[in-house]
This record gives sequence, structure tokens and C-alpha cells, in this order.
Amino acid sequence: MSKLPESLSIGQVAQRSGISHTALRFYEDSGLISAERTVGNQRKYPRGVLRRLAFIRTAQRVGLSLEQIRDALDTLPDGRSPTKSDWSRLSNNWRTELDARIEALQRLRDRLTSCIGCGCLSLRSCALHNSDDQMAAYGPGAARLRPSSEGGID
Ligand code: FES
Repeated sequence: MSKLPESLSIGQVAQRSGISHTALRFYEDSGLISAERTVGNQRKYPRGVLRRLAFIRTAQRVGLSLEQIRDALDTLPDGRSPTKSDWSRLSNNWRTELDARIEALQRLRDRLTSCIGCGCLSLRSCALHNSDDQMAAYGPGAARLRPSSEGGID
């Protein structure tokens, strides 16, 4: 197997990573990866970009947003690609978030159980349709549209 060159064209990166040119340009525009430009304005990526792309794709598979991934990558010095210990540290942080997301989904699933076969979508009684009713304390109806003298809010 031949050794990778120090820098790769967008075509080489696309071929080796399985990521389309369009997605690579998008990642670049989003600040997730970077490339130098040749005199002819061709992109040249450092070979470490492949590991960075593997990190991005894996993090996306876990369900992280591009912003979260960028924040994680920004913790690495000099824009370098994540090492094994970086991955270990960052993925450990994500575990907490994944646990919280799983818990929220389980709560959602439990609420759904009472809706199955119902279909009322009642603002008053459906725990799923109006689960976070922060205006309920102000009484029924459109509290924000009523003047405060009628019991609405300012
Ligand atoms: S749809 Fe009727 S309780 Fe949710």
C-alpha cells in the first residue's frame, strides 16, 4: 500500500473518505476542515483531514450537531486532527449528552403511550401535544393576546 502524500486534492479526499465534493466544501465553509490553495486556486488538504473527517462523520452518527462538532474540534490546538486520546476525552463528554437525550426520548415515548389510538391532540389534556405549556399558569386561552387588565400578561 502506498504512503499518503502530505497534501491531498479534493478528489483524493473524496475518494478516500467516501464524502462528496459538495459535502467537503460544506464542511470547509462551516469551519470544520480547512484547505490551502494552490497557485491555480485548487484546494489542498493536509492528509490529517481524513482523520478529522472520520471524527466528524462519527460524531454526526451519534447525533451531534455541526456546531457541537466544531466546538469540540476547536478545543484541539492548531486545528490538528483528533488523536486517540482526544477522541476518548470528547466522546466521554458526549456520553453525558447522549444519556440525557435518551432519557428525554424515553419520557416522550411514555407520554406517547397515552395518545395511541386517541387522536384528540387536546391542548388541555394531551401530554404530548402541549407538554411544555408555560402559559398554563395564566389561565385558559391566548393569554399573550389579552390585555393585562383582563388577566393576560404584559
Ligand atoms: S392525542 Fe389524545 S391524549 Fe394525546
